[in-house]
Amino acid sequence: MNGPSDLRMKRIPLNQGAGYMPALGFGTLIPDRAETITATRDALEAGFRHFDCAERYGNETEVGRALQARLAAGGIAREGIFVTTKLWNSNHRPERVEPAFEASLDRLGLKYLDLYLIHTPFAFQPGDDQDPRDQNGNVIYDHGVTLLDTWKAMESLVNHGKCRAIGLSDIGLKELKPIYESARVKPAVVQVEAHPYLPETELLEFCKETGIVFLAFAPLGHGMRPGPLEDPVILGIAARVGKTPAQVLLAWAVQRGTALLTTPRSAARAQENFDISALPEDALDEINRIQTRQRLNRVVTTGVPGFIPKARGAEQGN
Ligand SMILES: NC(=O)c1ccc[n+]([C@@H]2O[C@H](COP(=O)([O-])OP(=O)(O)OC[C@H]3O[C@@H](n4cnc5c(N)ncnc54)[C@H](OP(=O)(O)O)[C@@H]3O)[C@@H](O)[C@H]2O)c1
Repeated sequence: MNGPSDLRMKRIPLNQGAGYMPALGFGTLIPDRAETITATRDALEAGFRHFDCAERYGNETEVGRALQARLAAGGIAREGIFVTTKLWNSNHRPERVEPAFEASLDRLGLKYLDLYLIHTPFAFQPGDDQDPRDQNGNVIYDHGVTLLDTWKAMESLVNHGKCRAIGLSDIGLKELKPIYESARVKPAVVQVEAHPYLPETELLEFCKETGIVFLAFAPLGHGMRPGPLEDPVILGIAARVGKTPAQVLLAWAVQRGTALLTTPRSAARAQENFDISALPEDALDEINRIQTRQRLNRVVTTGVPGFIPKARGAEQGN
């Protein structure tokens, strides 16, 4: 299906005139560095133009390499792709924000970022150790900085011109509202876990009212089974409309007005996950009536990722 209703091409306006975010996003939380390059390349080839990165994923260099190679090949300009990365918890002190941003930009090999997010609202002990722990293995939090302090430093990045928009991740409505109210530069995007088992309807409504883009991660429920991919309602709709369960979940996410991040790691899955088309209203209603509720990622309660790359980037991340 082509034309303005083509979900694959949908772009969502960012507030304060900061451009448009392609609704379909490719997440780069990929533990293996070589696979990061091939998967990013395959995603570009399939049609993805929105790339979600993070300093914590330990692979910005590889994502950058794949993006640079595609831009150098011609046919896609820097303005034709949307790149996000995220400030990690150990960099929340205001004086650490700009250096962390510049280091990410450098690793990605880019001159500007479309979006910079505070990865979680939890400040960890400042420093180079991304996972600071005490002798008992407990995370060392930093109580000397507030989220608003960090947000103000993020606002300066927008003023300096190398960052088009800023936002937050792994945040609930209760923590988002005070930031929204005090912010000089309003959050453009909120990235949170969302799928039919965790629709986050109240947060989505707030985002719609205030013009914040709601960006869903884990739209396929992190691929966990059992999970949304195996839900009988999703399987039934997939059979009925001739699409795969993954395509049904991704279409639902876009049609309810969110942007999304998915992480296909093969060329075939990249094509599958990009090739979505609109579901009929009755299918959307059926998905909205699913009663199962499940949060799959605990990062929102502690700031500690469920799965994180080790220092050498060889393990899982968040
Ligand atoms: N802000 C945060 O704290 C946070 C947390 C988590 C993720 N994220 C972001 O969100 C991105 C998305 O990650 P996610 O895990 O949430 O993505 P997801 O798309 O919900 O799940 C990825 C999983 O689904 C499987 N999968 C992908 N396509 C499939 C298909 N067509 N059919 C069946 N299974 C399929 C993958 O399996 P294979 O691996 O076998 O291909 C993988 O295990 C991340 O890369 C990251 O950028 C952010």
